[in-house]
Amino acid sequence: MRREMDQQLLQKIARLKDERGAVILAHNYQPGEIQDLADFCGDSLGLSVKAAQTDAETIVFCGVQFMAETAAILSPEKTVLLPDKSAGCPLADMITAAQLRRLKQEHPDALVVCYVNSTAEVKAESDYCCTSANAVEVVNSLPEDKRIIFVPDQHLGQFVAGRTGRDLVLWPGYCATHVVITEDDIKTARAKYPDAIVMAHPECTEPVKALSDELLSTGQMLKFAATSTAKRFIIATEVGIIHTLKKQNPKAEFFPASDRAICPNMKKITLDKIIGSLEDMQYRIAVPDPIRVKAKKALDRMVEILPGR
Ligand code: 13P
Repeated sequence: MRREMDQQLLQKIARLKDERGAVILAHNYQPGEIQDLADFCGDSLGLSVKAAQTDAETIVFCGVQFMAETAAILSPEKTVLLPDKSAGCPLADMITAAQLRRLKQEHPDALVVCYVNSTAEVKAESDYCCTSANAVEVVNSLPEDKRIIFVPDQHLGQFVAGRTGRDLVLWPGYCATHVVITEDDIKTARAKYPDAIVMAHPECTEPVKALSDELLSTGQMLKFAATSTAKRFIIATEVGIIHTLKKQNPKAEFFPASDRAICPNMKKITLDKIIGSLEDMQYRIAVPDPIRVKAKKALDRMVEILPGR
């Protein structure tokens, strides 16, 4: 019954999508059925590149606010819709533009690198933007004598500092979904599946990362699993990605490091809300020009710098 209903909803989405000339982009943390219906499903970097390149007039962004905002900044001529306007990112809201301006005053010679999980206003105050896939490469591309302010995720920042050997000025932001994964979770999972490879997202805490084998963005996890000879993986990130990992690697097994690693905002997007979004052309995400133009400079640099893997 449920399946039949979903089929009807999917048909309706396909029809509305055609009528609107829309493309559906979905993040790897979206509910499985939304990852499946999307024209493109990927990590933050892949989605930004797609949003910048697509010919579609309308982008339905199945993700959270900062992702739709990024698409609107990169493609201002397109209509960008977020199916649930309350799908925010607490991490992105952990630093305001005013707080970043004060930090810049404390370090007047520093360059600012902001994580894409940030508001448009913070991006406008930054020199470079990065995602977890290319944060190391972005920082490595900066002059060695320059001090770097890295906001807002302290855990990604610590990972980048370790990989680049740079002394970064960090901000105490964190992703509430990733920090629920504990050292004990990894130890328990390893004891249960001793042959498994542990893939962790750089937004995890330092003790979790220290116990993991591979530190990867969600897109990099998908690539790694596709080419690895391993048959079991423990996944230390939001559980949504396990859907596509299983689909793409039917012979391998994937176990969440913690069942509690669920992003409530990512799960706000539903098939019904996508239909509502296409029917009523809502909720439109647009960024006022003065902020958009400044933020775009930092984002253009982000999409130009390719990840190392
Ligand atoms: P990536 O998909 O870029 O790895 O990002 C994960 C994330 O935390 C998005 O909010």
